[in-house]
Amino acid sequence: MSGTRPVCTTSWRELDALLTGEPDPVANAANAAAAIYHALPELNWAGFYFLRGGELVLGPFQGRPACVRIGLGQGVCGTAAAERRSVLVPDVEAFPGHIACDTASRSELVVPLLSGDTLLGVLDLDSPVLARFDAADRAGCEMLAEVLVRHVT
Ligand code: SME
Repeated sequence: MSGTRPVCTTSWRELDALLTGEPDPVANAANAAAAIYHALPELNWAGFYFLRGGELVLGPFQGRPACVRIGLGQGVCGTAAAERRSVLVPDVEAFPGHIACDTASRSELVVPLLSGDTLLGVLDLDSPVLARFDAADRAGCEMLAEVLVRHVT
């Protein structure tokens, strides 16, 4: 995918600029979700789940309404959160336990939001295209996550 269309690396500076100066985490998460959704092609969902009381709770997003609460270890988001690592799923139907919020989703990338050792939540990107995300997207979104941690919690 890289080289033919934007990946997260192309937009982290713009995202930082967009969010810098505004202290409200909800406003920043909302603008971040919108910016990512519109900057990256072939997405049908982009947004946040934040760790609240030991589970992931839906935060600001763009896309169809989604499941609100996800337990740690459940689905792609809960796996990324529990294991504190990015999870790239080329084919959601091949991921055991995938939670289908939007039946159009075919591939998914979830990146944990970590402040040091503290898990704050995850950034979740869904695509209606099989194998939409590659290693460059994952690396780029991990850079985005570093920016986001400073602005959305
Ligand atoms: N598919 C995710 C659930 C969240 S939605 O994609 C927005 C998962 O399996 O965790």
